[in-house]
Amino acid sequence: MSRFPDGFLWGAASSAYQIEGAWNADGKGPSIWDSFSHQPGRIAGGHTGDMACDHYHRYRQDVDLIAELSLNAYRFSISWPRVLPSGWGTANQAGLDFYDRLVDALLAHGIRPFVTLFHWDLPQALQDRGGWDQPDTCAVFGEYASRMGSLLGDRVKDWITLNEPLSVVTQGYLQGVHAPGMRDPQLAFRVTHRLNLAHAEAVRALRAAVAGARVGISHVSVPVHPASDSNSDAATARWVDGLANRWFWDPSLKGQYPREVLEELGPLAPEIKADDLRKLAEPIDFFGHNSYKRILVAHDPHAPLTKARTLAGPGPKTAMGWEIYPEHLYESLLRIHREYHGIDIVITENGVAFPDVLNNGSVCDPERTDYVFVHLQAAERALADGVNLRGYFYWSLLDNFEWAAGYAPRFGLVYVHYATQERIIKASGRAFAKWARQNSIGSALLKS
Ligand code: FCB
Repeated sequence: MSRFPDGFLWGAASSAYQIEGAWNADGKGPSIWDSFSHQPGRIAGGHTGDMACDHYHRYRQDVDLIAELSLNAYRFSISWPRVLPSGWGTANQAGLDFYDRLVDALLAHGIRPFVTLFHWDLPQALQDRGGWDQPDTCAVFGEYASRMGSLLGDRVKDWITLNEPLSVVTQGYLQGVHAPGMRDPQLAFRVTHRLNLAHAEAVRALRAAVAGARVGISHVSVPVHPASDSNSDAATARWVDGLANRWFWDPSLKGQYPREVLEELGPLAPEIKADDLRKLAEPIDFFGHNSYKRILVAHDPHAPLTKARTLAGPGPKTAMGWEIYPEHLYESLLRIHREYHGIDIVITENGVAFPDVLNNGSVCDPERTDYVFVHLQAAERALADGVNLRGYFYWSLLDNFEWAAGYAPRFGLVYVHYATQERIIKASGRAFAKWARQNSIGSALLKS
């Protein structure tokens, strides 16, 4: 039977706000997501992350589930305001202890922790002084990284600075559908630059604090295909690809912005100070790749900024309305490999929401098993073609709070019955566990 390389990481991913709950317990400060979800009309069904999966109190049971799933890695994020209620200054000991115990529980099961520092829940106290638009926030983020590195770095070597700057900027600052709910293009592009500077600060801080640190960033990649053969759609696809992908990847990978995007942005382009690019050129150890969908674009001269109308492809759709198109994973892996000189890649998120039903104590979800299988096949093809792919983290371990969509979309390998907080491993979770145990999905693409 063909096998993935020895040491391949079989993981699941989560983020603090989406699972922890305990939003104001034991000295935690509020985050922008607490404030945002508490505003009427922001989240489908009026849901909030106040309770979520109550992981803060049930983490031991959740770590046992990861072990039961035979996974050798787990990606989680630290809630910045749980450890530093104002974002800086005095730490909250109960918050520090929580992550300390979580890491120890994972290691006791031989599960390798991948820690994300920022998965969107900025301390509200920092937002109140300008958030990512305030230049100091970059240094404050570096300080936070350094403190987390000192706390956990004897046991945690794998770090992710930021999760999906593209989503932060698009949903949080252009469309206003995520916290902090802004709609301001000028600000959005300024924030992009600040996030890049903050990422670089954190890389430097982690290298100083953690012996043998492996540091990366998680970018979502969105393959952009033209909707037709026309020249105008092709040109639009190039432009949207520049905005959605290269604009976000190149600064952290190459220490520069794509020149044609900068030029085209004109007055919307952020101010880049003389030594900013030197600061950005901080080498990283792996590209964290989040992969969900591709988009098709058609030229639309009336659309602000993108000049594009976005269409979903013709394939079957998930509960999020995203097209199932596994080829996008292969395409992106090859592209990242080529453009960034064979850098190590970790798939830090790939997964799917379906309307799962709990029936007689079990969840039968063959569509999810198929989805994961075909995406792992795409990953196998990329490995066979020489891509330095080190692991695959399914999104997500548990059903959880899916941001503006609330609790309706279920992405987990594990079903969560929100009224009782009962956890039930789905059939897809059992299939994934089997592949993880055998380090193989049983296809024949890789050499045995
Ligand atoms: C990604 C986010 C993650 C989750 C998935 C479905 O963009 O990083 O938190 O919401 O989408």
